[in-house]
Amino acid sequence: MQLSTKHLLGIKNLTQEDISLILSTAQQFKEVLQRPVKKVPSLREVTIVNLFYENSTRTRISFELAEKRLSADVINFTASASSAAKGETLLDTVNNILSMKVDMVVMRHSASGAPHFLADHIPAAIINAGDGINEHPTQALLDAFSIQEKTGTLAGRKVALIGDIMHSRVAQSNIYLLKKMGASVVVCGPPTLIPKHIAAALGVEVSYNLRETLAWCDVANVLRIQLERQNQVLFSSLREYNLAYGIGKNLLDSLNKEIVIMHPGPINRGVELNSDVADSKQSIILQQVENGVAVRMAVLYLLSGRSVAE
Ligand code: CP
Repeated sequence: MQLSTKHLLGIKNLTQEDISLILSTAQQFKEVLQRPVKKVPSLREVTIVNLFYENSTRTRISFELAEKRLSADVINFTASASSAAKGETLLDTVNNILSMKVDMVVMRHSASGAPHFLADHIPAAIINAGDGINEHPTQALLDAFSIQEKTGTLAGRKVALIGDIMHSRVAQSNIYLLKKMGASVVVCGPPTLIPKHIAAALGVEVSYNLRETLAWCDVANVLRIQLERQNQVLFSSLREYNLAYGIGKNLLDSLNKEIVIMHPGPINRGVELNSDVADSKQSIILQQVENGVAVRMAVLYLLSGRSVAE
């Protein structure tokens, strides 16, 4: 079995079969990662460049680890320490790297559509590691893997995405994926942080009431307030935001039900999520990070052209 696509630019263009194949392949790699020797020779002779034009902790380390666990040759590129800082264009940078015989490019960029632009211009397989406010496909895949692992299934699952939906590529990729896999999705946050036409455009329900949303959902994926992407004041203060939309232990306890708490990181502690929840047993935040390596191994393996036996 193979993916229907040469690149992973977003979840929007993946089929349900693509998503299922990535998740089942990730399960096999997760088993590899439990062994004493956590390395397989699957991508020997494959060279991968990690091209990061925007800051990252989790995604960058996770991709590098996934590549090394698959025995690929890895090159790391940080825009601020490169000739991009001297004005070199993205295409020139990538063509120079490719002339050194690189097979795959993992790219994070602050401009929405940057990986799509590259995919139109160069022959290597491109993996989007987050582009502006557009998509973050491997985050949605690892979130789905973690929900499935924790609750058994995606189909019929009630998932709330809570927080800054407006500026969140994680929200957009999660919505595409969860809807394709048969989950129900509610987006919740202040009206200023939820796009006006999201219900009609993406087939989700909208709620401005945190308590009602938590009372409805099985899983709450809490999203970061992205102050760096906001060029106007969209709520009165971080303290006010926390009072209205922050999730703390008292609120969860008052609901008298078990909700799985997720967050893609980095967390603004005391803003969208209080520490008494982030560090609680209900939280699977660190399991998400752990699963990210297996999921990225699956994506790299499948896009390298290796097929999985049926
Ligand atoms: N979740 C996520 O993309 O985190 P980083 O920005 O640290 O990669």
